[in-house]
Amino acid sequence: MTNKNDANKYHFDAYDLTLLMPVITPNEKGRDCGDLVVFPNTRNFSKNLPKNILMKFIYQNKIIRLFATQSWFKKLFKGVTIKVKPGNAYIFYGFRTYHGNQEIDDNLIRSTALFHYNDPFLESKLVKFIEKRRSSSKTGL
Ligand SMILES: [Fe+2]
Repeated sequence: MTNKNDANKYHFDAYDLTLLMPVITPNEKGRDCGDLVVFPNTRNFSKNLPKNILMKFIYQNKIIRLFATQSWFKKLFKGVTIKVKPGNAYIFYGFRTYHGNQEIDDNLIRSTALFHYNDPFLESKLVKFIEKRRSSSKTGL
């Protein structure tokens, strides 16, 4: 059985730089191991909030995310599948790089430490309002 809950949720990070440090990663041939897929530097850095919201609306929906799982899309947009290894650190421009994880078998464990640096919209009142609404809907407040 494969865990699809967090799989293929391709996105751009809200932060400019992402440091990914794998802690535990499965390496089972023939099984879904939740490998990282990146489309390096798909877009430029930007401090234009409406443009960022539009880009997220275009890229972070079910149809484009489904396309991102297809080999033709990976070929067209130079997607790279990475089997990350504990002990290594992976640094990429999360804001610019469309990325996500593939599916992972339910009985396999993958654990990753993520660090994000520099939020270009840190001072945005609109972003703060959206984040506040999202966190209160998760906690039921
Ligand atoms: Fe991310």
